[in-house]
Amino acid sequence: MKKLSLTAPALAEIIEVRKDTDKIKTFTIKYVDKQDQKRFHFVPGKFLMVSVFGFGEMPISLSSSPLKTESLQLTIKDVGTITHAMLQLKKGDKIGLRGPFGTGFPIARFRKKNILFVSGGCGMAPLRPLVCAIADKREEFGELKLLYGCQNSDHVLFREDLKEWGKSGGLDVLLTVDKCTPDWGGSCGPVTVLFNKTEINPENAVACVVGPPVMLHFVIKELKKCGFKDEQIYASLERLMHCGMGKCAHCNVAEKYACIDGPVFNGTELAKMPLEEK
Ligand code: FES
Repeated sequence: MKKLSLTAPALAEIIEVRKDTDKIKTFTIKYVDKQDQKRFHFVPGKFLMVSVFGFGEMPISLSSSPLKTESLQLTIKDVGTITHAMLQLKKGDKIGLRGPFGTGFPIARFRKKNILFVSGGCGMAPLRPLVCAIADKREEFGELKLLYGCQNSDHVLFREDLKEWGKSGGLDVLLTVDKCTPDWGGSCGPVTVLFNKTEINPENAVACVVGPPVMLHFVIKELKKCGFKDEQIYASLERLMHCGMGKCAHCNVAEKYACIDGPVFNGTELAKMPLEEK
């Protein structure tokens, strides 16, 4: 079957909008052309270039389960002009989609291994498809643990999924928030504080990390302290993107382009990248 175009945006319609926090919404979207929807599939970690007509195009990671391809979901935070315009859109409005682009998480390499997921803030959105794919084939993997840090208790994304993964997926979920409120009974501080609250064993394990570069820097440091080697670490790197196709150099980091060589990189590649600078 013909693939979805990487160069020309395909028209898509918003079929549902969910407000997750004051600045984050999750959009459920379908391609207008049924054939485009049939062609749609993705590996967790990949992203789409999303056109908001009249405002521009931006890279957004897919946040839905890769097993549900009859529609797709994008979880978007209001951080600039295009994201702000997107957050004003309603059910029935149209957008353009190019892609999916980039590399995804190499799930086949994770089989039989214990998996430590680490996420900061909106990083839970690109991580969700990976957890969904692994939870769906739970028996093929070892122990699953998620360390998740957010700004405050109102910013915990995908609460229903977290509960469900805990019950049926056998995922051990540990949460922390930067700003503690009296009603919050859990951990306080950045996601790295959770490394002291649970046993982290690097034996037969991989770590999948998604969050801003500065968080990746500190999380990878903690993972190394726990005994993880570079080749046991996978992380999705946020970078400014424009073309999504390795042409414009906007996403250049070290000798790589985040759009085609990433956004998911192995720890051996990440070791050569200046993560703490951005
Ligand atoms: S976004 Fe253009 S080279 Fe990566």
